[in-house]
Amino acid sequence: MRGRVSLEVLVGPADRRAALCRDVTEGLQARPKALPPVWFYDETGSRLFEAITELPEYHLTRAERQILDAEARRIAAASRAESLVELGSGTSEKTRLLLDALAEQGSLRQVVLLDISAEVLAEAARALAQRYGVAVHGVVGDFRQHLGKVRGEGRQLWCFLGSTIGNLLPDERARFLATVAGQLAAGDHFLLGTDLCRDPERLALAYDDPKGLTAAFNRNLLHVLNRELHADFDPEAFAHEARWRAAEGWVEMRLVAEEAQAVRVADVGLEVTFEAGEALRTEISTKFRAAQVAAELAAAGLVPCAAATDPAGDFQLTLAQPA
Ligand code: AVJ
Repeated sequence: MRGRVSLEVLVGPADRRAALCRDVTEGLQARPKALPPVWFYDETGSRLFEAITELPEYHLTRAERQILDAEARRIAAASRAESLVELGSGTSEKTRLLLDALAEQGSLRQVVLLDISAEVLAEAARALAQRYGVAVHGVVGDFRQHLGKVRGEGRQLWCFLGSTIGNLLPDERARFLATVAGQLAAGDHFLLGTDLCRDPERLALAYDDPKGLTAAFNRNLLHVLNRELHADFDPEAFAHEARWRAAEGWVEMRLVAEEAQAVRVADVGLEVTFEAGEALRTEISTKFRAAQVAAELAAAGLVPCAAATDPAGDFQLTLAQPA
């Protein structure tokens, strides 16, 4: 039997545009210039990201799926969750492994999905309602702002997979985790996916693949700005760059102006100049150590109760409970 689908829009097209205008106005005038990675994911960007997850150089998705394959039943048994709440859910492809286990043990009653992309969300919600026959509630929102509005029925398992948490700066991360902790009751669980520190050369390849998919993903941001805000970026005049920053513990993606240039962003009335070699930071992707994950969870009021990595030790899933 097909479950009921409900959708709730916390970020409508007008809010989305206002947020984009704000981020672009602030980010292109900041020093160094920087934009948050949320704007990568238009239809083309989402498709490029899906293609990246299949690259041999991009281990994250495969490693996380391996762990879920091995651990989903144990996670289901430990959480006995009635609702699964996924933050930044995207296509919810890997989440199915958890849902299969929860459905099999007979506890699953509801799925709640939070994602910024209304189209991807609606499609994922329909597919899950069809497959599991439970109610699916989709919330169009931003995990940096709207966690307070998200709630599952009964005993909850909140999931934040894919190492998306790595996109947040340390202070944003602390705030995010504390907000999650505040939304969970005794008996609820939180499952967090984190990419782990490893050989910088392998990391560099994961974020600068020979097929150029990551470069296209990075430059797509400029196409988004051209289309949405009538900017006149020449995306080919920017080089894709991915660098491991050891001191910060993150891979930084940037777009570097090949030569000096001026860019107009018509819809926000902005004229910005780039010097030759000047960079626009488009993403940070933090790589964690196991002890760091435990410490950050604890600082937020979450107690880790189990953790597992893939056989290669590249990626970690941590299950935690509110303190
Ligand atoms: C989806 C945010 C986890 O940081 O690895 C992939 C996005 N960026 N290639 C990541 C991404 C470049 C990805 N996350």
